Amino acid sequence: MPRDIMDIIRTRRSTRSFEDRPVPRKDLDLLLEAAVWAPSGSNSQSWLFTAVTRQDILRELNEKMRQGFLAWTPDDDYPAKHGAKAGARREDFNFYNHAPVLIIASNRPRYENAMADCSLALENIFLAAENLGLGSCYINSPHWLRNDKGVRDFLFELGIPREHTICSSAAIGYIKKPSAPPPRKEHTVRVIE
Ligand SMILES: Cc1cc2nc3c(=O)[nH]c(=O)nc-3n(C[C@H](O)[C@H](O)[C@H](O)COP(=O)(O)O)c2cc1C
Repeated sequence: MPRDIMDIIRTRRSTRSFEDRPVPRKDLDLLLEAAVWAPSGSNSQSWLFTAVTRQDILRELNEKMRQGFLAWTPDDDYPAKHGAKAGARREDFNFYNHAPVLIIASNRPRYENAMADCSLALENIFLAAENLGLGSCYINSPHWLRNDKGVRDFLFELGIPREHTICSSAAIGYIKKPSAPPPRKEHTVRVIE
């Protein structure tokens, strides 16, 4: 029985603990298909989704990110940025929560809708993942370090054009420890009729 869309929307959670188990290639292909069916400003479709499943590459990217965070000065007081920088000093630093898949969303430069388009595509990925019994999480840190030379050199080696802006990324995998649903805040919705 196909699941009701509202059930999928309500049940999806940001997963931060993944099983050490690969995601089947056919499922990954479905997630990437879900991404490219998202709406985009003026139908630009100028995004690029780079899925990495090779653990040696992810470990190497993690090390570049760790070095990047150590050299980085957060540009505002957003707590997660300072938390990530502090985390980079730890030996067990892992920005993608040891997920078996990381999908990096990038987009062309000087395009005002770059983030909006990639974010809508990521939500498609998250909901499709939930429907397949997979966990997912938005991982912001590649966006924060989008101008770090070491990170960009490495992403260039992976085929992400140097001029692209890194919008966001998604960690995907089977859920090891489910996240509790954070209560929804009140008074965030209005209907004027
Ligand atoms: C723009 C954005 C950035 C986020 N960045 C991160 C992140 O870097 N790491 C993380 O663990 N979760 C991240 N999240 C997930 C949020 O923390 C999560 O959506 C929120 O706590 C609500 O939990 P839920 O997704 O389970 O409903 C991000 C979400 C959004 C929309």
